[in-house]
Amino acid sequence: MPTIGLIGSGHIGSQIARLAVANGYDVVLSNSRGPETLSGLVAELGPRARAATPAEAAKAADVAVVTIPLRNYLKVPVEPLAGKVVIDTNNYYPERDGHIGALDDELTTTAELLQAHLPKSKVVKAFNHIYAASLTQDGQPAGTRNRRALAIAGDDRSAKMTVTRLLDQFGFDTVDAGALQEGWRFQRDTPGYGPRRTADELRKDLAAAERYAHH
Ligand SMILES: NC(=O)c1ccc[n+]([C@@H]2O[C@H](COP(=O)([O-])OP(=O)(O)OC[C@H]3O[C@@H](n4cnc5c(N)ncnc54)[C@H](OP(=O)(O)O)[C@@H]3O)[C@@H](O)[C@H]2O)c1
Repeated sequence: MPTIGLIGSGHIGSQIARLAVANGYDVVLSNSRGPETLSGLVAELGPRARAATPAEAAKAADVAVVTIPLRNYLKVPVEPLAGKVVIDTNNYYPERDGHIGALDDELTTTAELLQAHLPKSKVVKAFNHIYAASLTQDGQPAGTRNRRALAIAGDDRSAKMTVTRLLDQFGFDTVDAGALQEGWRFQRDTPGYGPRRTADELRKDLAAAERYAHH
């Protein structure tokens, strides 16, 4: 099984790690304070999990997940993620992250910023519009009627297939919102941001979304 490397192991990172371990993946966790601060989570997750620095987690990853406060995205290690699928869960909250002009003006999107920082990686936006707790509550087996769906966006087809398979294993259908620049359709303050949605409902939400700069 591939290794999932987590850059960030907070609310979302720890939940993705739980789902990954439950589905047979190895996980390497990391945070800003150092691996020793993750010993409790590693103990909970068991032998498939270990903690390391962000650079080591990135290096060990077959698939990486960047799940940190957006303001820190320029600290994500670049070289060890080259050529890899990188899932971006991040959202922009100016009160937490400080103002980023290009996002305030919606000249770009959060995941496009990460992609620009990681030019050789294949960034896929995912997991940003579901509450952390719901990740381990809402998953259901493939084929379940009215299964919850999650949206993805990305520029690399095969990377999106990898993430779609992962979501399916974790218990969710996938709705492909298109290229990375379409990621705003499920950013904060859009209809699909937060609530439980089936694939059909989520497609309608994506179509109805408006950019906040236009409000
Ligand atoms: N919470 C949710 O329900 C939710 C849902 C969807 C998306 N999101 C988004 O996903 C991202 C993560 O959210 P969260 O709620 O999981 O945040 P969180 O609980 O605050 O966790 C953030 C994690 O990132 C780590 N971190 C911070 N700077 C880092 C760096 N430079 N390198 C490596 N790790 C770093 C933190 O480590 P330390 O603790 O050591 O600083 C912590 O483990 C945010 O952008 C958020 O908007 C959150």
